[in-house]
Amino acid sequence: MLNILVCVSGGGTNLQAIIDAINEGKIRNTKIKCVISNNEGAFALERAKNAGIDAACVSPKSYETREAFNKAFLDKVNEINPDLIVLAGFLVVIPPAMIEQYRGKIINIHPSLIPSFCGTGYYGLKVHEKALERGVKVTGATVHFVDEGTDTGPIILQKAVNVEKGDTPKQLQQRVMEQAEWIILPQAIDMIANNEL
Ligand code: GAR
Repeated sequence: MLNILVCVSGGGTNLQAIIDAINEGKIRNTKIKCVISNNEGAFALERAKNAGIDAACVSPKSYETREAFNKAFLDKVNEINPDLIVLAGFLVVIPPAMIEQYRGKIINIHPSLIPSFCGTGYYGLKVHEKALERGVKVTGATVHFVDEGTDTGPIILQKAVNVEKGDTPKQLQQRVMEQAEWIILPQAIDMIANNEL
């Protein structure tokens, strides 16, 4: 059984996709041990509660320095001791010590086809704004391992999504979630849990 920790910052639709996929047997041999948010108002925490999953908030706002937050975050993660850490819309830079300790055991979902529209400053809706500004006809999502860089780790899965004429950033974001993110993130977890990578 793969025990996973899911880290979230916002609405938690990717978390919901993972919960649903486990319940439907699309992710096999996997248990969500805990959900951590950096933001106590995140609706993702409600989703965890509704599904009966342990949830915790570790917020940088509660600590005087970034170092103190990083230590508290890593201490909490070590207490949970997950086999895999899933960043599902987690908008906090992962502390270097955590990357070192959990190398090859942290994955992230990014809402573009990496290496397009990724790196520092590319997160959430901004990614789709930039894709529309550039006028690309195809975008998508990527699941990748996390290393020291921003969105630079080895790619696990990608899925392309068409941009439609007249798309707003929000419409494109929703389509990328529905047609790519909510599919490939559960798929990647299932592959890792069942040694199919
Ligand atoms: C998702 O689109 C995810 O790909 C993105 O944040 C959103 C979170 O939505 N992540 C990033 O931009 C990371 N760089 P959710 O809370 O509804 O899952």
